[in-house]
Amino acid sequence: MAQKKPAKKPASKATKKSPAKPKIVPKSKSMAAPLADLSHVEVEGSAKLTYKGKEIDLKVLHGTEGHSTLDIRPLLPQFGLLTYDPGFGSTANCRSAITFIDGDEGILRHRGYDIADLAERGDFMEVCYLLLHGELPTPQEKAEFEQTVCYHTMLHEQVYPMMEGYRRDAHPMAVMVGIVGGLSAFYHDSLDISDPEQRMLSSYRLIAKMPTIAAMSHKYSIGQPYVYPQNHLKYAENFLHMTFSVPSEPYIVNPVLAKAMDRIMILHADHEQNASTSTVRLAGSSGANTYACIAAGIATLWGPLHGGANEAVLQMLAEIGSVKNIPNIIRRAKDKNDNYRLMGFGHRVYKNYDPRAQVMKKTCEEVLRELGINDPMLDVAMELEHIALSDPYFIEKKLYPNVDFYSGIILRAMGFPTKMFTMLFAVARTAGWIAQWKEMIEDSEQRIGRPRQIYVGENKRKYVPISQRGSAAKLRAV
Ligand SMILES: CC(C)(COP(=O)(O)OP(=O)(O)OC[C@H]1O[C@@H](n2cnc3c(N)ncnc32)[C@H](O)[C@@H]1OP(=O)(O)O)[C@@H](O)C(=O)NCCC(=O)NCCS
Repeated sequence: MAQKKPAKKPASKATKKSPAKPKIVPKSKSMAAPLADLSHVEVEGSAKLTYKGKEIDLKVLHGTEGHSTLDIRPLLPQFGLLTYDPGFGSTANCRSAITFIDGDEGILRHRGYDIADLAERGDFMEVCYLLLHGELPTPQEKAEFEQTVCYHTMLHEQVYPMMEGYRRDAHPMAVMVGIVGGLSAFYHDSLDISDPEQRMLSSYRLIAKMPTIAAMSHKYSIGQPYVYPQNHLKYAENFLHMTFSVPSEPYIVNPVLAKAMDRIMILHADHEQNASTSTVRLAGSSGANTYACIAAGIATLWGPLHGGANEAVLQMLAEIGSVKNIPNIIRRAKDKNDNYRLMGFGHRVYKNYDPRAQVMKKTCEEVLRELGINDPMLDVAMELEHIALSDPYFIEKKLYPNVDFYSGIILRAMGFPTKMFTMLFAVARTAGWIAQWKEMIEDSEQRIGRPRQIYVGENKRKYVPISQRGSAAKLRAV
């Protein structure tokens, strides 16, 4: 007997097709899947170490490019020896396929692409995709990526009262550390770092929300109403809009400034295993959630020797004030008994011109031309650069201008208050932090980070009851 077809349900309002809503995390391709292929480390040879009559062969490892690396893992178990390397100047803490730097040659590449090429021809969203997923996106992948990032730009409404708990004159980095760490209290559906999809979701959220947080903290500090994100705008445009527009007036984003902002973001997106990135990895190695790890990175970036340098450069240029004061400043920077340093000069890794500084210098000129600004600070900066680059002290020590030397001048010209500079760095670096954090989580070789130490404190001694204690000096003499 032929079966009756089930009668078609009349289309109700509820079953009517609504416009496609972007998924909170696209399920396609590698989006949520572990990406890292970190297997390119080869054993290139070995090095012999002899100590107390015992000999050991240590493997020498080599990746695709860069320094050969001694694998010291057998040192403690076989020799009882630790290695001492304050500041990790000679220590590789991980294998990574994200960023390559050759400091002597002034090379910076992300996933094989030269930074100057990316800054000239790409855009920040493309670079974010590249860092996270390993390849430049196709047009469709890029559209999907941008749409998903847009989908997460708004903040939970309860974040706003959180912001109001801060003093209006709080440093934006203080606000950002707090708010970003606090996001883990809002987004419980993305805290399980063992779930690749939750990892991706927290990653998208952070990339999307950082500009909103940065703009919001600025608005709060100057007493203007918050401006909500406009998702028809591009990432950098949206950021400028949220920062500088007011509800009472139309605001058209200047394309030259939007391009410059986007470029600044590209130039700050990632920089291998610097202090803040290593902090993010270390925090992440304990299994802490993404928001907490990124908050740790923001805290580290804040320091004047790291991301805080762009703010410090402007303070320095303002203090110098005029070209005629430069010789005195150079004298101070060279004086061993004076701990004064030229901010925006020198780098742990670059012993050549920072390739980012070259692009930044060009962008600086473009922005000042567009805005018709004749900034006397730029004259001071140019002359300072000129004098420092021809001074034997700076030449011998290979101290060149770094990325922070010019970024401050651009940001000031765009209207950003000095206090916001480091925060802008944090907005851009979030992409790199997340890519590195994700790579670390997916690397089978990674363990909880736990450096050792050379102990130089007291040997074992007896507890002294409080009634019998004298001064610290007396106790030592006992
Ligand atoms: C970036 C920086 C922290 C790197 O530090 P580092 O790799 O530990 O290098 P060191 O501090 O050991 O410096 C090496 C030598 O150069 C000198 N030096 C380094 N940067 C200097 C600067 N900006 N001005 C003057 N002298 C500097 C140091 O005094 C030291 O001299 P010494 O060998 O006679 O003692 C350092 O160059 C610096 O403080 N720069 C200014 C801050 C800055 O711009 N940071 C942004 C980095 S992107």
